Amino acid sequence: MNDNLHQLRCIGCGARLTGAEVQPDFRCAQCGELFEVEYPGWSQRQGPDRPNAGALKWLWRERRASSETLDHSGVWRFRELLPILESFGNAVTLFEGNTPLYHLPRAAKALGIDQLFAKHQGMNPTGSFKDTGMTAAMSVAKERGFEWVACASTGNTSAAMAAYAARAGLRCLVLIPDGKIAWGKLSQAMDYGALTCQLKADFDGCLTLLTQIVREAPIYLLNSVNPYRLEGQKTPAFEIAEAFDWSVPDHLIVPGGNLGNSSALGKGFRELHELGLVARMPKISVIQAAGANPLVRSFLNNQATSLEPVEAHTRATAIRIGNPASWRKAARVIQDTGGWCLDVTEAEIAIAKAEIGAEGLGCEPASAVTLAGLKKLRAEGKIASNETVVLLLTGHTLKDADYTIDFHRGTLLNADETVGREAEIARLQRNAQLVEATPAAVLAALKGSVG
Ligand code: F0G
Repeated sequence: MNDNLHQLRCIGCGARLTGAEVQPDFRCAQCGELFEVEYPGWSQRQGPDRPNAGALKWLWRERRASSETLDHSGVWRFRELLPILESFGNAVTLFEGNTPLYHLPRAAKALGIDQLFAKHQGMNPTGSFKDTGMTAAMSVAKERGFEWVACASTGNTSAAMAAYAARAGLRCLVLIPDGKIAWGKLSQAMDYGALTCQLKADFDGCLTLLTQIVREAPIYLLNSVNPYRLEGQKTPAFEIAEAFDWSVPDHLIVPGGNLGNSSALGKGFRELHELGLVARMPKISVIQAAGANPLVRSFLNNQATSLEPVEAHTRATAIRIGNPASWRKAARVIQDTGGWCLDVTEAEIAIAKAEIGAEGLGCEPASAVTLAGLKKLRAEGKIASNETVVLLLTGHTLKDADYTIDFHRGTLLNADETVGREAEIARLQRNAQLVEATPAAVLAALKGSVG
């Protein structure tokens, strides 16, 4: 680990440590808060470690055409901005990142905005944004000689961790809430060879338990409390800025669960700004499910100075989290950038998900909170028609096929949840039809759907 280049700073009391000194649960021994990675060399304006903005933009673009393994990764392509390894030769990569930025023409038209885009992190190797963080933190685990890694998860972290652990040749332990994760994600952990324990606990309970376990056994914790995860997860900010030729969008809208991702993206844009690679930051807004909205409540009740955990309920199981670890970091990102924090209902999530599907993209339910949140922000006049908006889609549509099928069959939502929205939902539903195996019957079905 190259401790000359980076150090860990506690976001609570400001204590600074080298990477090797931090406790296994990544909490500060003085105040209990989380750490973030900082690069002291960057603050010296003409210092030898300070990256040169113009040269970097050129270098990163050139790497897209390079045949070097590391340059194929959308994370390590930007390695000058995450110098966390002693040797980049230790990087464990599945060629993550470099995900597409799609225009959303139908949603844009419906909302009266021209410039609406989706950065689809579901197009990563294991189908979620977690891969960009996992390549970074797994590389640190490998470099530091750990044999075991572990995470608590609502499914995507475990899928990503299991894949990267397999590539690194490490063993991995997964703790998941029994019965409350999507099957696609569980199947991935099995396929990639994880030791998976389903616990009679929710995500928050799994994470608390794991925190105790890593204090007793030499297991490297790979949840997003691990600050190296966020170093990888900040790189989509670089890709977005690059895609807009280094003039950033006005708004970035991100789903909020454990709140690591919004924290990471905020850090990414903040660093680009501090290093002079972009002239400003986008407003970053975080959207939660109404049944799992502790940060929204915290903003409403006390301007996010403290957070009261909630018992979380939502069908968007990825963000079924009541006691988010990184809430302080995320609150700071929202406040510093002038974004908002709001929640959306189960029906709003389901409708938005179907609309993203109808754009030919699709995403998992947790990702769809972004479009549902955008609709609210537009309705409240917080986003103008000439502003550029990027939605961060976090997971692939195939992650939770049961949810999609239930929506189209009409068995997902109950009557209370759909009241007043029946017609809107019916317009989006595309249930499969049982049709006789004759041309006439299929043509009749076709005629029926056109009419
Ligand atoms: N979207 C998806 C698809 C997720 O899997 C998660 C989190 C989030 C959004 C929220 O991101 O936690 O950084 O605020 N999934 C974690 C997991 C908790 O275990 O896979 P966050």
